Amino acid sequence: MTVRKVVKMGHPVLLQPASPVESFNTPQLDELVEDMLETMYAYDGAGLAAPQIAVPLRVIIFGVEANPRYPDVEPVEQTVLINPEISFIGKEMESAWEGCLSVPGMRGLVERHKTIHYSGYDQHGHRIERDAEGFHARVVQHEVDHLDGILYPQRIRDMRNFGFEDTLFAESSRSEDSPC
Ligand code: NI
Repeated sequence: MTVRKVVKMGHPVLLQPASPVESFNTPQLDELVEDMLETMYAYDGAGLAAPQIAVPLRVIIFGVEANPRYPDVEPVEQTVLINPEISFIGKEMESAWEGCLSVPGMRGLVERHKTIHYSGYDQHGHRIERDAEGFHARVVQHEVDHLDGILYPQRIRDMRNFGFEDTLFAESSRSEDSPC
């Protein structure tokens, strides 16, 4: 397993739509997933999309462990999701602060669907189908955006709600969610 370099906003791979994975259960796919997991943990992220390590394939990972230091952060089961699809459940929207390993040090307020259904496959080709809400739904929407060449700053409605984490949250604890 190798920690790969996370590319930053400005790199063209982050702006292009990624291609579907066509073969499952291959050494190449296993290696990609292992490297992505290693990289996400090394960077202390909550999620990672393959384009962030300059691999233009529709592979995302995400997961957050319960942490007693951050009781407000909901745990999310570690998941490998390939060729994901999202549908929205209801019309309710929710705004929250997001970060991204490709936009280091920054946070922005982004509106997302509160509740979603998502589906896809793991690296072995097993089908995954889940409903999710809140932070779990947000991280999936953020990561799937990466596969469509969209970075979260493009979704900030009011650019006054975009800034440096250490300044925005200097006096508050709102910044505890990990970036994706
Ligand atoms: Ni991101």
